[in-house]
Amino acid sequence: MQAKKPIGIFDSGIGGLTVLRKLQHALPHEHFVYFADTANLPYGEKTPEQIISYARQTISWMQNVKGTKLVVAACHTSSATAIDIVSGEFNIPIVGTIYPMVESLLAHYQNRCVGIIATPTSVQSRMHENILKNAGFQGEIYSISCPKFVPIIESGRISGPELTRCAREYLDIFNHKKMDALIYGCTHYPWISETIQQIVPSEVDFLDPAEHIASKVSQELYKHKMLNTSWDKTSTQFFTSSNPERFASQINLLLSIPNPVVKLTDLSHFDQQVAVNQ
Ligand code: DGL
Repeated sequence: MQAKKPIGIFDSGIGGLTVLRKLQHALPHEHFVYFADTANLPYGEKTPEQIISYARQTISWMQNVKGTKLVVAACHTSSATAIDIVSGEFNIPIVGTIYPMVESLLAHYQNRCVGIIATPTSVQSRMHENILKNAGFQGEIYSISCPKFVPIIESGRISGPELTRCAREYLDIFNHKKMDALIYGCTHYPWISETIQQIVPSEVDFLDPAEHIASKVSQELYKHKMLNTSWDKTSTQFFTSSNPERFASQINLLLSIPNPVVKLTDLSHFDQQVAVNQ
């Protein structure tokens, strides 16, 4: 029974769609529920307390209303500031964006130099560095805060002079310092990978943690005997906290899904429900 339940995925907006497409590819028998918290976007400029509260509301709704068997926080800002704090409050597995890539980084980039581009809140949390160092990473890590990227990407300008100007400013260090890899430390950034890759020297490896997140989700489902092996037609339900028409046109453009159904959902009252259940 558990196996047929959907997997929940959330982000502040279209960033988590870069993770959803990998999950759909890796787990073609699974159903998904995607929530974009666009009313509170950008998460990268919110306080950790706000992000914790959003994560609690969203996961509570996913577990208690949507009946999801596992939730993916497809957002580095939420993974960096909230997931370790709130995941013990729920009885379903919660997968974030940071831990799944650690093993591969240790295997391929130990003692080397990596740059992580991320939102201001993620960079301030130092969580990417802390998790890597605690796992034994001994190379150099440069965290680069890119505050203008998410608003530009969400406005649909995923190429063009404004984005290029911004990218040149943020990624300048790659021209002065020899780096081995660039990690997309925000799930929105793979949407602008073409621009990023034109600016960063070609010998740098570009790492999107989404692959590792998909593997981690598969392992968790297998471990908890929750993999869906049925051949039933799968579904993806989309929800957002503001402007469903706008989110539907973004899904259409980015994932080539014609006329996706997007429902407006207000989760602001779900915080209390968790508190009562505790
Ligand atoms: N996509 C999210 C992340 O990975 C959040 C971006 C934002 O809302 O600032 O950090």
